[in-house]
Amino acid sequence: VPLQAQDRNLTQEVLDLLDTKSPLQTSDDFSAISQRDIKAALDRLASRSMVEFVTNDAEEAVLTKEAETIVADGSHEFRVWAAVKDAGKIPIKELAKVVGAESAKVGQGNAFKHKWIKKDGDSLVLVANEVKDTTRELLQEVQETKSLSDAKALTDLKKRKLVTLTKVITYTVTKGPKYAKEMPVEVTDLTSDMLVGDAWKTTNFKPYNFNALGASQDAGALHPLNKVRQEFRNIFFNQGFVEMPTGHFVDSGFWNFDALFVPQQHPARDMQDTFFISDPPKADKPRADPETEAQLNAMEAGSKRLFASSETIETKPRDYEKYWKDVQAVHQEGAFGSIGYRYPWSEDECLRLVLRTHTTAVSTWVLHRLAENPRPARYFSIDRVFRNESVDATHLAEFHQVEGVIADFGLTLGGLMKFLEDFFAKMGLENLRFKPAYNPYTEPSMEIFGYHKGLKRWLEIGNSGMFRPEMLEPMGLPKDLRVYGFGLSLERPTMMKYGVDNIRELLGHKSDLRWIREQPAVRLEKD
Ligand code: PHE
Repeated sequence: VPLQAQDRNLTQEVLDLLDTKSPLQTSDDFSAISQRDIKAALDRLASRSMVEFVTNDAEEAVLTKEAETIVADGSHEFRVWAAVKDAGKIPIKELAKVVGAESAKVGQGNAFKHKWIKKDGDSLVLVANEVKDTTRELLQEVQETKSLSDAKALTDLKKRKLVTLTKVITYTVTKGPKYAKEMPVEVTDLTSDMLVGDAWKTTNFKPYNFNALGASQDAGALHPLNKVRQEFRNIFFNQGFVEMPTGHFVDSGFWNFDALFVPQQHPARDMQDTFFISDPPKADKPRADPETEAQLNAMEAGSKRLFASSETIETKPRDYEKYWKDVQAVHQEGAFGSIGYRYPWSEDECLRLVLRTHTTAVSTWVLHRLAENPRPARYFSIDRVFRNESVDATHLAEFHQVEGVIADFGLTLGGLMKFLEDFFAKMGLENLRFKPAYNPYTEPSMEIFGYHKGLKRWLEIGNSGMFRPEMLEPMGLPKDLRVYGFGLSLERPTMMKYGVDNIRELLGHKSDLRWIREQPAVRLEKD
């Protein structure tokens, strides 16, 4: 058994052989070694100018199984002819018994054509006393030389499925200008001793190998969701958006629903859709809380930089008591010009704790904060939300929402549509369609559809709308400050960009860490 490539010192073997034989042909001299392994040794030697080599791209003709039996026993027609010659006369019915079914079938016709045999009644008799088995001779040549001098005959053998052609790469190797019988010792580290003396001038350093593929590193990798999240964050930051603090996953029904004018009987509040928290059983009423204030202050510090430094912002502190009463009023009796829903509004329902079902809960307390000094503002968030849904290929009980909110005087729905078109174009989605939809907190509301070129169909990619006065005015925002917003899942665009068709492969206990690690560091988009 020849030694495996990894157990052999191929570089030394090449040097040894070149000492007595040049050029050498890897196909002959290293026929048992894969050409890839021999190439690695040659690259190593060539980078040190010890050898030179040229790459030969060649086609090799290889015998099929059937052709091997022909080389051993003769062609089918030859076998038929030989059987007839031996017997002098063979009944046609008997032929298969003598030469086998395959040869009887294929060989008979050819033997007739070559005029080697003929029919005599129901039997076969000899015509030629001597024959030349050309097929066998051609195949013998192929076996010996891995090629055939007669190109036409080669095409014919290929057609008859006796020969196949395979591509082979081989190398022709000659001595290089620095050829030596052995690899010189090479130093890989430059030491301070070498630098102090003159040794660095004469030391034989190992050259860099720029052709090496390198070992794959077991390193960490960013999750595709994190990469797409970062792309969204950049788009928002480039357009002057400020990131909202989204750290708390648990919120009260007040911030998740009531403040958003979602009626307490709304189906979205059902056990079907919302995860309720049982311990603690109840939230505090909304109030100024130092931790929340600190988070909002940090966010504001970011947004202030967007305004001229001379601009002073006057602040009127938020009145939580009044806000609570106004939210109740707008649901129960109607207020701010709205007739309301007219149902008995329950404080307990409002103070139930929930896992937030959308990041609009965060937008709500940020907009409430904006009412301290109403002015144009742009906010965004990307974080986790929770819905009590049955899990399937496109739904998870936890996913991420990307949300943008814009406040300004004189905003229009057309402005929102234009903004969304520009926003999604930056993610590579052109050509949007808008469909009227319903959200309790926006009017009008629009679902956003994008055309997926790969799937050749329209996909829902987001939800949007103009926030209702019933939501904004109890906060204390002025009537003429309009706010619009939009939301989408982070998973949907990530699945589109990474070709994932089952959301469970992307997120959750079924996602494969290897898949995450093997994603390219940079995605090159193509249509
Ligand atoms: N909250 C909405 C959702 O969960 C998205 C949205 C945000 C819609 C802001 C309008 C305005 O789908």
